[in-house]
Amino acid sequence: MKQKVYQGMTFVPYIENSAIMERVDEIAGKISERYKDRKPLIVCVLNGAFPFAADLFRRLDIDAEITFIRLKSYEGTSSTGVVREVLGLGADIKGRDIILVEDIVDTGHTIVNLVDKVKALEPASIAVATLLFKPEALQHEFTPDYVGFSIPKKFIIGYGLDIDGLARNLPDIYVVKE
Ligand code: IMP
Ligand code: MG
Repeated sequence: MKQKVYQGMTFVPYIENSAIMERVDEIAGKISERYKDRKPLIVCVLNGAFPFAADLFRRLDIDAEITFIRLKSYEGTSSTGVVREVLGLGADIKGRDIILVEDIVDTGHTIVNLVDKVKALEPASIAVATLLFKPEALQHEFTPDYVGFSIPKKFIIGYGLDIDGLARNLPDIYVVKE
């Protein structure tokens, strides 16, 4: 692995794909145990979570379903970034055991807002699995149920995480060079 350059910023290797896969295995094991006989509905939050959700889903050894939602943000018109429309969130939530799968929880605005919207659809239960978590950036009372890696407040890319739409295809995760 070597350095990558996007938008004039240099990124250095941070978490190798093999380490990601080990954590995904562990999380899949925990979910499989906890949701045995529950047939959970995995809800992948597009775009960033798709590699994590795919790898996680493949490793579940219980019956489970998967669906996809997308958040439309209005960053130009909202100071907080909280005003978001959820595309694809349907009636299939009611009475189900929902596991929201996110790539990263940063301030927590996105996930807290989404959890509220999903709760309004009356699921039987709701849990959050996030590959990455920046505890120092969190601005809400919120604890993800499953965390791949807790990381410092630094910008990262790869394995689904983007910089202006690019770098999602990198198998490894990179961090911006200080
Ligand atoms: P929030 O601040 O927790 O609402 O995070 C919102 C979104 O910001 C995430 O879903 C990501 O799309 C993006 N994000 C936060 N931190 C990073 C990062 O380090 N790299 C790339 N995207 C990030
Ligand atoms: Mg995201």
